[in-house]
Amino acid sequence: MSASAISVPQANPGAGYRALKAEIDAAVFRALESGWYILGQELRSFESEFAAWLGATAAIGCGNGTDALALALRALGIGPGMSVVTVSHTAVATVAAIEMVGATPLLIDIEPDCYTMDPAELETVLDHPPPGMPPIRAVIAVHLYGQPAALELIMAACRRHGIPVIEDCAQAHGATIGERKVGTFTEVATFSFYPTKNLGALGDGGMLAVPDAARAADIAALRQYGWRTHYISDSVGVNSRLDELQAAILRVKLRHLDAQNARRQAIAAAYDAALRGTDLAPPTRRNGVGHVFHLYVLRTPDRAALQARLRAAGIATGIHYPSPVHLQPAYHGRVALGPSACRATEIAAEQVLSLPMYPELTDSQVARVCETLRRV
Ligand SMILES: Cc1ncc(COP(=O)(O)O)c(C=O)c1O
Repeated sequence: MSASAISVPQANPGAGYRALKAEIDAAVFRALESGWYILGQELRSFESEFAAWLGATAAIGCGNGTDALALALRALGIGPGMSVVTVSHTAVATVAAIEMVGATPLLIDIEPDCYTMDPAELETVLDHPPPGMPPIRAVIAVHLYGQPAALELIMAACRRHGIPVIEDCAQAHGATIGERKVGTFTEVATFSFYPTKNLGALGDGGMLAVPDAARAADIAALRQYGWRTHYISDSVGVNSRLDELQAAILRVKLRHLDAQNARRQAIAAAYDAALRGTDLAPPTRRNGVGHVFHLYVLRTPDRAALQARLRAAGIATGIHYPSPVHLQPAYHGRVALGPSACRATEIAAEQVLSLPMYPELTDSQVARVCETLRRV
């Protein structure tokens, strides 16, 4: 069956637009008519609505999730001559952002069942940094696939060493630990609004969230040439702004996010039920967290066969990610690894498979995926 015969895509941002077309079109029209396209009322409103929804003191829009990470690092004073610890099992953006600010990445392994940073290996590298590395000055914890990382343990280890943590929430808008949303636990947290994310723009966009108004003002200056007063650079900044059109669209989508996350969770429950009794491993849920299923990632040693059989039934799947960052040509052989050499990461990369997951999947499409999983 050719790709054109796919009837259940793995992700579908166009369906996300069509589901809210009347509201989004009206918001775009309003933004166009305003005559103000950069850093205006739409962004100011979106920033305060997003901060209120999240439970943060302030939110600062920027160009994309990669810039958000780089701005977060800069706001914490991270730069050349410093190492930043993160995982290799993530979007390359997490690691790219570290190098964007001139710092040195140190990539450690994941917990094999939850796919997020292994807090035990973090402790090891904080206690015994690999020789020759610049001193470790920050940690980026990625909440992957919609599930929070083991943040309590990660933060406890970092607290002992006086090192700040950045939460990378690009895949986890609305995920919770206890009653609190991720993005509210650390000094600075970042989000991406790439179109397929749980909260997706119709273009690029990113956000930082902070508990501290003074830090918010610093970041707002950094995102625009270091300006606190127009045309006067207090510090050396960049240009990374979230435009008015995307902000207007995201204001609409934010109003639907909680309901859409609930729909993702319902689809995940249906997939879980379909996998019961098969030898395909469903995603593991941590106790006490709310998983928002940016992706539904199952695990099987026989991935290629499963992927082909789903494709033959018109069902697309994805692999997140086919290669750990440290094995990609741009990084291979030059990026430092923790003592486990990212073994669990490399095994996961060979076995993970992402099923179709977006809120606009119809009940009959979900039923087809479930029935096909049971059959194969
Ligand atoms: C975990 C993670 N971090 C960072 C990013 C970067 O976001 P963006 O694509 O908006 O730059 C992404 C998105 O791809 C991501 O999934």
